[in-house]
Amino acid sequence: MSVILAIESSCDETSVAICNNGKITANVIANQTIHQNYGGVIPELASRVHQQNIVPVIQQALSDAKVSKKELNAVAFTQGPGLLGSLLVGVSFAKSFALALDLPLISVNHMHAHILAHFIDDPKPSFPFICLTVSGGHTQIVVVRSHFDMEIVGETLDDAAGEAFDKTAKILNLPYPGGPLIDKYAALGNPLAYKFGEPQIKDLNYSFSGFKTSILYFIRNQEKENPNFISENLNDICASVQHSIVYILLNKLKKAAKQYGIKDIAIAGGVSANSGLRAGLTAMAEELNWKVFIPAFQYCTDNAGMIAIAGYYKYLNKDFVQQDVAPLSRMEF
Ligand code: KG4
Ligand code: ZN
Repeated sequence: MSVILAIESSCDETSVAICNNGKITANVIANQTIHQNYGGVIPELASRVHQQNIVPVIQQALSDAKVSKKELNAVAFTQGPGLLGSLLVGVSFAKSFALALDLPLISVNHMHAHILAHFIDDPKPSFPFICLTVSGGHTQIVVVRSHFDMEIVGETLDDAAGEAFDKTAKILNLPYPGGPLIDKYAALGNPLAYKFGEPQIKDLNYSFSGFKTSILYFIRNQEKENPNFISENLNDICASVQHSIVYILLNKLKKAAKQYGIKDIAIAGGVSANSGLRAGLTAMAEELNWKVFIPAFQYCTDNAGMIAIAGYYKYLNKDFVQQDVAPLSRMEF
């Protein structure tokens, strides 16, 4: 028997989940809307809002899962990577909570957890599989050989795919985070209206910083001729940008699958909520005979459910940490 409470606070979502014998029975996520006015996450504000949110979110999760504090067997938390001030709130809370209740502590790597979110619902992937992890801070192609034996075989050399979405959105005067909005407008536009080049990067790596700059120059040039270019063509611009990002992501994923001879393919992280990526992956799977794994929406963007499931597998291995554990803004994979 194991009932694990998990806390995620690496960026701007305060989330608490409960995992009861490998099943997620609560996954409460408090989003922070305060950052919308600033075009990106302001670390100081994020940390302050985590402090306001953490106690009510814990209470809500316990109530949703219908468990009392006394029934808990362990406390799992995101140790990193992420914003230090944000992580500090979750880590400090987890430590004091575990100390007060005399429970073991489990440290979880946020990027491992995005991948392990695939072990929440059925069908679960079998090992080895390849996971494309695409979030606001990371873009990684990972060969997953067991729950904790993972190897990054390709990654971005600069911006993450989520940043490519968010920074494009900023150019288009859309609020943060722009990824979901680009997705929404893209559904109404023509993906082939405008063409943006594919960066020529070696091996299985990515680069999105030049891509973002090319969009910026494209928009500036168009606006010289028509100051209303963005508002008159928003759907087509979003559809074309999304189409290009998805093409870049899937092209390297296809190369990785071929190189490693693996046909079980998963996507994870916030950008895996993107409808263009989900559709593109499904089409590629049909063409190449892949078995694909796409997480439920609530487990794509940051959530404690994924921390709880990662914590569960560590609990089975009795992989605990002590009270001297500290948050890590950069954490070894
Ligand atoms: O995994 P996540 O919630 O946080 C990080 O660990 O970074 O990912 C957040 C990123 C943001 O860049 C956001 O714009 C992007 O995921 N995102 C999307 C969509 N939903 C979230 N990007 C494109 N389309 C979406 N539907
Ligand atoms: Zn994340």
